[in-house]
Amino acid sequence: MNRLKIGVLISGRGSNLQALIAACAAPDFPAEIVLVVSNKPDAQGLDHARVAGIDTAVVAHGEYPDRESFDREIDSHLKSSGAELVCLAGFMRLLSSWFVEAWRDRVVNIHPSLLPAFKGVDAHAQAIAAGVRLSGCTVHIVRPEMDAGPILVQAAVPVMPDDDEDALAARILEAEHTCYPLAVRLLAENRVTIFDETAVVDMENVAAGPLIHPQPG
Ligand code: GAR
Repeated sequence: MNRLKIGVLISGRGSNLQALIAACAAPDFPAEIVLVVSNKPDAQGLDHARVAGIDTAVVAHGEYPDRESFDREIDSHLKSSGAELVCLAGFMRLLSSWFVEAWRDRVVNIHPSLLPAFKGVDAHAQAIAAGVRLSGCTVHIVRPEMDAGPILVQAAVPVMPDDDEDALAARILEAEHTCYPLAVRLLAENRVTIFDETAVVDMENVAAGPLIHPQPG
């Protein structure tokens, strides 16, 4: 099987990276992780990569004069690794338009809300403050604007009356760990077509849980 080569960008804990590592361990999964890049040298996720025997690189953003030179360094690591798809997994830097266009339609992100609601760093707090009964997570193709781009997979997750940010984040995170491998699989199997900035997904013979909502194909 020809597996899609992916590079994963992280900044911290790396539980979504771990979910992708676990998915890629299945012999019939159509993707493999060839590189993990962190902008933080002490990111916990780097340990997950090392344990799994995956190459790692640290590109510390503070060492670059501007966003684009930082992104160009990441780009050169990705190119050397042979990565064909870039997965942002808790990567807390906004990528430059240069990078997003250089990798157009080949960068995906996971965000802990039902986009386009609650963009930004405090999505869980925003959901609680808004009093929504359902939140969730979204995997989408990245565009230069923050948390924007064609939606690949979403899962709805209930918000309980006594939830604080941590409780809601933990419940949504479980859904993230299912959604991200599914989105990577859909891309690796060439099931995604983008029409007019909307992703149309061919879901034939793909099992997804009842609360997971890819766009109808
Ligand atoms: C995840 O909840 C992810 O959705 C979120 O950061 C967390 C990273 O956790 N990303 C964003 O908020 C991006 N805007 P992880 O490091 O354990 O995967």
